[in-house]
Amino acid sequence: MLRQKNDPYAIKAAFFDAQAREAWAVKNSGPDEMKKFDRLFAVTGPLAGLRVLEPGCGTGRLTERLVAEVGRLGYIVAVDISPRMVAHARINLSDYEKVEIHLGPVEEIIGFENYFDVVICHQVFPHFEDQENALTKISNMLKPGGRIVISNFISSAEIKKMHSRAGSAVANDLMPPPQTMQTMIEQCGFEIEYWADDSDGYLLKANLI
Ligand SMILES: C[S@@+](CC[C@H](N)C(=O)[O-])C[C@H]1O[C@@H](n2cnc3c(N)ncnc32)[C@H](O)[C@@H]1O
Repeated sequence: MLRQKNDPYAIKAAFFDAQAREAWAVKNSGPDEMKKFDRLFAVTGPLAGLRVLEPGCGTGRLTERLVAEVGRLGYIVAVDISPRMVAHARINLSDYEKVEIHLGPVEEIIGFENYFDVVICHQVFPHFEDQENALTKISNMLKPGGRIVISNFISSAEIKKMHSRAGSAVANDLMPPPQTMQTMIEQCGFEIEYWADDSDGYLLKANLI
């Protein structure tokens, strides 16, 4: 995927390329993070046998867990805009048959309309260039009754602080204010089932109605 230099995704992809060997992107989860993964999977509900889309897979840290969760009959499509993240994810997940990994923005992947049971946006939602457009594309890729889970392991307030420190490529990458999020989610045809934004992180689950 060749992108123009002034394409916002090229700038962001370069930012994440440079992060691909940073500890946060590669490290194994400590006990605190394990608890957050448990909470995430409690909210996603059972994934066995389901088709799951994971935008912003990074090096595949969540993807590896998803492989175990979906089991033999499930399938995962993981997507990321950063060529280096994707390269590491392909290596890390090379033993697994039930995963395909795409390079590019989730908003631009084609061929999966009405295909997924679940979409898990883990630590990626603030980075979408146009969050409403991304949600619309995601809703089109979900089957009727499908679910979206939006997860960050820190709260929206902490994301704001962290991204403003991290630099210009992500400085404005925030979670939308609650009212904006609710409106966007509902306009895309979802009904919110669970929503928390606290010291344990940000977690929203909504079902396509
Ligand atoms: C903060 S990292 C999180 C990576 C991984 N989910 C994790 O928690 O380790 C965000 C990732 O989202 C990717 N990304 C940003 N915008 C994206 C988009 N529109 N579509 C797909 N991936 C995107 C970035 O390249 C980056 O790897």
